[in-house]
Amino acid sequence: MNGFYAIAIDGPSGAGKSSLARRLAGMFQFIYVDTGAIYRTVGLAAYRAGIDRRDEAAVAALLPKISITMGYNEAGEQRMYLNGEDVSAEIRLPEISICASDVAALPAVRAYLLEMQRKMAQENHVIMDGRDIGTVVLPEAELKIFLTASAQARARRRLLELESKGVTSSFEEVLQDIEYRDVQDSSRAAAPLKAAEDAVLVDTSELDFEQSLALLAELVVTRLAPEGEREK
Ligand code: DC
Repeated sequence: MNGFYAIAIDGPSGAGKSSLARRLAGMFQFIYVDTGAIYRTVGLAAYRAGIDRRDEAAVAALLPKISITMGYNEAGEQRMYLNGEDVSAEIRLPEISICASDVAALPAVRAYLLEMQRKMAQENHVIMDGRDIGTVVLPEAELKIFLTASAQARARRRLLELESKGVTSSFEEVLQDIEYRDVQDSSRAAAPLKAAEDAVLVDTSELDFEQSLALLAELVVTRLAPEGEREK
């Protein structure tokens, strides 16, 4: 324990991790770290370099040549920078999601990003979301949540989110993308998506956003402030 609290939220794409974690971070004044965005930035770098994203040697050779940094804007939103360029919007494109999932399967990439993620937790109270936060990145986290929902429910939400950003897609396309990533993220050898043994399982298929938020907020309060005191 380093004097800072850590909350780990893991789960498949589209379970609502990012939006819930962001709101929780605001409520409890933690820093929100979206680790998927970091993998997405590596995926984008590989895509731009035109290399085979499954070729570990090629991707590993690229890593020392690029700079990946993160920051927060005035609204407290996480921004990702690739060689100093703000790529926060571009990393959300569907083709980059696939690149991110591909590079995330490479042990060299995971090892490279591990320290960056741990450092955030050494210096801040963090709510970190991803796939292996409770199992690998922050095994000592005070609270681990494994957030899930059916593939259909996740595809419906992702489609609405894309539409709100003006991105046109179809339900089938989004569902296919989610299923591709579920299989790849769960079956890879390196830090696969799985619930930590001590994680609290939360299925949001039948819950709306506010209900999910209330449930998670209650978990945070119960786990981190059993006697109504949160300050350390
Ligand atoms: O959470 P997301 O959909 O933005 O993540 C993009 C990809 O990165 C996803 O396919 C899984 C991978 N990822 C990972 O392997 N480990 C993490 N901690 C976060 C994301």
